[in-house]
Amino acid sequence: MPSQHFLTFFFFLLISCNTITSSSPPSSQKDDTFEFVRPMDRKLLGINKKEKLSHFKFYWHDIGSGKNQSSVMVVPPSLKLNSTTGFGLVNMIDNPLTLGPKLSSKLVGKSQGFYASACKDELDLLMAMNLAFIEGKYNGSSITILGRNPVFHKVREMPVIGGSGLFRFARGYAQASTYSFDLKSGDAVVEYNVYVFHY
Ligand SMILES: *[C@@H]1O[C@H](CO)[C@@H](O)[C@H](O)[C@H]1NC(C)=O
Ligand SMILES: *[C@@H]1O[C@H](CO)[C@@H](O)[C@H](O)[C@H]1NC(C)=O
Ligand SMILES: *[C@@H]1O[C@H](CO)[C@@H](O)[C@H](O)[C@H]1NC(C)=O
Repeated sequence: MPSQHFLTFFFFLLISCNTITSSSPPSSQKDDTFEFVRPMDRKLLGINKKEKLSHFKFYWHDIGSGKNQSSVMVVPPSLKLNSTTGFGLVNMIDNPLTLGPKLSSKLVGKSQGFYASACKDELDLLMAMNLAFIEGKYNGSSITILGRNPVFHKVREMPVIGGSGLFRFARGYAQASTYSFDLKSGDAVVEYNVYVFHY
């Protein structure tokens, strides 16, 4: 039964993740006297350097149909409210991020997460996504965005609430502006400019 195999695999993943995390604490924490919390030397985490401010620019492709579909509705809008804004709708995304506005231009990462229609009278989306980069030294690092996206505004601003890898302790903001929108397919290309402090 495929579903059983899937469950076994999932269970294996859970166990192996547990083993990995519990058997390899950061070397800085191998201290017998350590209990719950202690002050920390910045040097041990490599954050005694000056914080950098970087500007990233790329295009975010929301593709809701066709062979390259990357955006899928997982919760339909609330029928009870019958709002014109699709209030309650949730789309799960694994949207390509490219250097140029064309989908065929260089892939620099994926935007993984979801957006949800969170306003009853205007199309405002709640965005919750991890920008998972694959480009150069940023490969494997990610930036997390959580914010409000009123999609018909020219420029929408959303907070960068953190990150991983090279973006540990990251903070900043992203500005999104729609580059193109295909009324027929619903596909959108959005320019993102992300300003972020990181080490
Ligand atoms: C939803 O609203 C439309 C237009 O206002 C109306 O025609 C329709 O009957 C409504 N549907 C429900 C399920 O309330
Ligand atoms: C799918 O994406 C690839 C590149 O990422 C592109 O070459 C191709 O034309 C796309 N296909 C469709 C149907 O959009
Ligand atoms: C990014 O890192 C992964 C895992 O280390 C590697 O498999 C992949 O080839 C790298 N991608 C690029 C574009 O360098």
